[in-house]
Amino acid sequence: MNDTLYLAPIRGVTDSIYRNAFHKHFGGFDIAITPFIASFKGVKLKPKVFREVLPENNNAMPLIPQIIGNDAEDIINVSKLLFNLGYKDVNLNFGCPHKMVAKRGRGSGILPFPEKMDELLSNIIPNIPNRLSIKVRLGRITTDEIFNLIPVFNKHELAEVTIHARTGIQMYEGTVFLDVFEKCYKLIDHQVVYNGDIFYYEDIIELKKRFPDITKWMIGRGAMVNPFLPGEIKSDNTLQIADKIEILKDFHDEVYQEYSKVLFGPASILGRMKEFWYYYSHQFVNNKKILKKIQKTNSTNNYEDIVNKFFQNDAELQKHDFIS
Ligand SMILES: Cc1cc2nc3c(=O)[nH]c(=O)nc-3n(C[C@H](O)[C@H](O)[C@H](O)COP(=O)(O)O)c2cc1C
Repeated sequence: MNDTLYLAPIRGVTDSIYRNAFHKHFGGFDIAITPFIASFKGVKLKPKVFREVLPENNNAMPLIPQIIGNDAEDIINVSKLLFNLGYKDVNLNFGCPHKMVAKRGRGSGILPFPEKMDELLSNIIPNIPNRLSIKVRLGRITTDEIFNLIPVFNKHELAEVTIHARTGIQMYEGTVFLDVFEKCYKLIDHQVVYNGDIFYYEDIIELKKRFPDITKWMIGRGAMVNPFLPGEIKSDNTLQIADKIEILKDFHDEVYQEYSKVLFGPASILGRMKEFWYYYSHQFVNNKKILKKIQKTNSTNNYEDIVNKFFQNDAELQKHDFIS
C-alpha cells in the first residue's frame, strides 16, 4: 500500500528514543507527530522538550511537533520557536480527552465551541511562519459537534485535519463511529487523515474499502502492541519475518538502553518501561503474567532478569485469525 502512515502521538511512549528505535527495527511509518508540547510565553523551549524535538535527535523519520493550548499568542510563540529549529509544519491538538485539559478549553475542550476555534485559528494562522494542521475528535460530548466545526475548518488554511473518530468523553473506550466519520470527512475541504482502532492489517483493508479516497492513516496503539503492523501494511502483508521474537527483543533492549542513558534512577527508567510494556505485552500469549511481573519490580537488575528470561523462554506471539 502506498498510502501515508503516521505514527500517532502517544504521550509517555512515542518519544524520540522510541521513534528512532521503532524506525530502525520495524520501519513502516512515513512520518510521526510528537506528543503534545504545552504552549507558553517563554523565549526558550524547556530542556526536555528541546531534546525531544532537536533535529539531530530525530533523524529517523520526518516529524511534525504538536502543540496544545488555548492562547493564540502562546501557540504562535511556540510555533515560531519550532520553526527556528526547522519545523515547517506544526500540529494543534484539539483532541486531548482529559477532563482537566478540556475544562481549561484545551484539547477536546474547544470542540463544542466553533466560534472559539474560529477565533483561535484566525489569530494564529496569519501570524505563524509554519503550516498548521489540526488533530480533532468528532466532538467533546456528542459526535455531531464536528458538523458545526467543519465550516471553521473549511474557512481556514489548514495543511490537513486528522480525525480520531471518537468523542472526548469516550476517552479511548467504546467503538469508533465510522458512520459519522463517513458523513463528515466528505464535507471537509482539506486532506483528512483517519485515526482510530487500526489494530490489524485487515482493519485498514476494511477502512480503505469503505473510505477509498482516504490516503493518510494514523496508527497509535495498534503499532505499540504489534510494531510489525505498519510494515505489514506497507508490504501488503507479504512480509515473512522468521525471527520476530529476536527483533522484538532487540527493539526493547535498544529503547531500554537509551532510556538508561538519559534518565536518572530506576524509578524514572522503570516508569517509562512500564508504560512501554502496557502496550507491548499485549502481543504475547500470557501477556498479563509478564505485565504483572514488570509492574511489580522496582529494581533495574530484577527488571532485566525478568525481561531476559521472558524473551529466552516464554515469549510467544498471539495468533490473529483473520475474520473476514
Ligand atoms: C496514553 C495515550 C497518550 C496520548 N497522547 C496523545 C498526545 O499527546 N497527542 C495527541 O494528539 N493524541 C494523543 N493520544 C491519542 C492518540 O494519538 C490516538 O489519537 C488514539 O490513541 C487513537 O488512535 P489508535 O486507536 O490508533 O491508538 C494519546 C493516546 C493515549 C492512549
